[in-house]
Amino acid sequence: MNPASVSPTPPTVRSPRFIQVDQADHAAARDELIDGLNATAAHTSPKFLYDALGSRLFEAITELVEYYPTRTEAAIFNQHGAAMAKAMGEVGTLVDLGAGNCAKAMGLMNTLTPQRYVAVDISVDFLQESLRTVQRAHPTLDVLGVGQDFSKSLQLPADTLQGRPVFFYPGSSIGNFTPVQALSFLTGVHEQTRAQSETGGLLIGIDLVKANELLQPAYDDALGVTAAFNLNVLLHLNRLIGSDFSPRDWQHVALFNTERSRIEMHLQARRAVTVTWPQGSRQFEQGERLHTENSYKYTVEGFAALLSAAGFKSSQRWLDDRGWFAVFWAQS
Ligand code: AVJ
Repeated sequence: MNPASVSPTPPTVRSPRFIQVDQADHAAARDELIDGLNATAAHTSPKFLYDALGSRLFEAITELVEYYPTRTEAAIFNQHGAAMAKAMGEVGTLVDLGAGNCAKAMGLMNTLTPQRYVAVDISVDFLQESLRTVQRAHPTLDVLGVGQDFSKSLQLPADTLQGRPVFFYPGSSIGNFTPVQALSFLTGVHEQTRAQSETGGLLIGIDLVKANELLQPAYDDALGVTAAFNLNVLLHLNRLIGSDFSPRDWQHVALFNTERSRIEMHLQARRAVTVTWPQGSRQFEQGERLHTENSYKYTVEGFAALLSAAGFKSSQRWLDDRGWFAVFWAQS
């Protein structure tokens, strides 16, 4: 579908505007899921972890003692927000990728003072509530919600960007991409930040490589919240393709793949399982796995090199005291 054009809004009384760029394509999602289930090494895209319950389970994950990324990144913003704002310079449009509840951007709004705030998320519905909260807190801010699955390609509606564009991609969400996908994604962002007369940049959160003893429990917590988050994908699949997965047949597995520098989440069959859906079926041996997520971990040098390969002119970064997480400002 063609990106719609954004009409100008009157300057005084503002309310958020919303655009759904690509309608959720249920047939395509079904095909993609079934191909993944039929593959020799069965896999599903991590985006299927986020149905309504999955999103709430993820929010619960961010409060677990073992899951350090969210609070570590927040501490970096608290401690270095002013220095970041100074390094970043003027912000015309702040584009929040995967905005969700918009909480992270809200925390930076008074420091970055953009003229326009564009929240991009897979579903515009999820943004409605959050953006009304943003607008209430910042009555004169130009607020726009864009519903788009940007995991494949980031294509903002025409005229979305006004003034100097700054993209915001916190939470180490880029970890879900392979390094090759991450490079092409960053190259796309770099192009967009040069689309205006003033070139902008990207503010991005990156989880860093660390000891397995710290990484693994963050994805396999004592309360089993991450296990529930992972297993919930099966219930989501059952609704999407009409399959008959039973979560009790599966066990949550999280491991750090050192060679590939990524946490992998899998669901492992506790016994031989046959899963059936309307047009097909798949047999799993006992111990066979369904791969549900990768979460890549970078070194500071490795990620700086990736930013420069994507075309960014220079980058600066801020780390927490323990060196677990980094926030990069990449100048286009
Ligand atoms: C939302 C992709 C950043 O990889 O840490 C958390 C998702 N998966 N626990 C991450 C996740 C399991 C999270 N990201």
